[in-house]
Amino acid sequence: MSHGHRRPIVAGNWKMNGTQEQAVTITRDLLKGFHATPQIEVVLFPPFTVLQKVGELLRASSISLGAQNIHWESKGAFTGEISAAMLKELGCKVAIVGHSERRQFFGETDATVRKRLKATLEAGLNGILCVGETLQQRQQGKTWEIIETQLQAALEGIEPLTAKAQLIVAYEPVWAIGTGQNATSVQAQEVHEKIRRWLAGRFGQAAADAIRIQYGGSVKAENAAELMAQPDVDGALVGGASLEPKGFLSIIESTVQTKEAGCSTHSS
Ligand code: 13P
Repeated sequence: MSHGHRRPIVAGNWKMNGTQEQAVTITRDLLKGFHATPQIEVVLFPPFTVLQKVGELLRASSISLGAQNIHWESKGAFTGEISAAMLKELGCKVAIVGHSERRQFFGETDATVRKRLKATLEAGLNGILCVGETLQQRQQGKTWEIIETQLQAALEGIEPLTAKAQLIVAYEPVWAIGTGQNATSVQAQEVHEKIRRWLAGRFGQAAADAIRIQYGGSVKAENAAELMAQPDVDGALVGGASLEPKGFLSIIESTVQTKEAGCSTHSS
């Protein structure tokens, strides 16, 4: 499947890492080595506490800011939650919903993921919907069944045009997150291709061709090019390696180069 028309997106999910001082250092170092090019979209997802600071530093750059989580209500008695309006005020353009760590450790369900995604898209933010199977589910041959259920539940009620314009899907196999054991490029492509086919059935081919599908799970400088060479892998959602500016820059660079090379081969 052709991928020349999808702008790859590389995102750095810092998770619960980064005091003010660390966040400033990481962001400054990243900006020093970053060469903006229209061929790629780069987004940082620092913790809520440093969104303002990192946002100020990113303001003059083409790197955008995103939130690791978002609440579905606009305001009120929801202790510990952050609304879309609050995030937009800080300059966030994107929110991650349904990360497996939230599903595993914080009681996130398909139903709450759906509400968060709906609120994200209604607020005019882009949403990165994370899906992925555990090791046990993969070993039981249930990978696709799990992912399809997650997609179905989270995307219920979403209009095709909204999905086309604002949705990003991240395939993050739980067994590959933070383990150093990334999915192979073949394993990733297999699932990404199925996700795209499912999106085509749900939203139509034009939307499915436009929606970016990122891979996440132990992406690093050493394996980025091989993963990005897959036609349905449209970028990376990077955890640990995004805290190291050098490594993260090299993932960005590999993505640009691999996708450019892929484009010229595909279009000729
Ligand atoms: P790692 O890159 O640390 O495996 O984390 C991936 C991830 O969960 C990104 O959201």
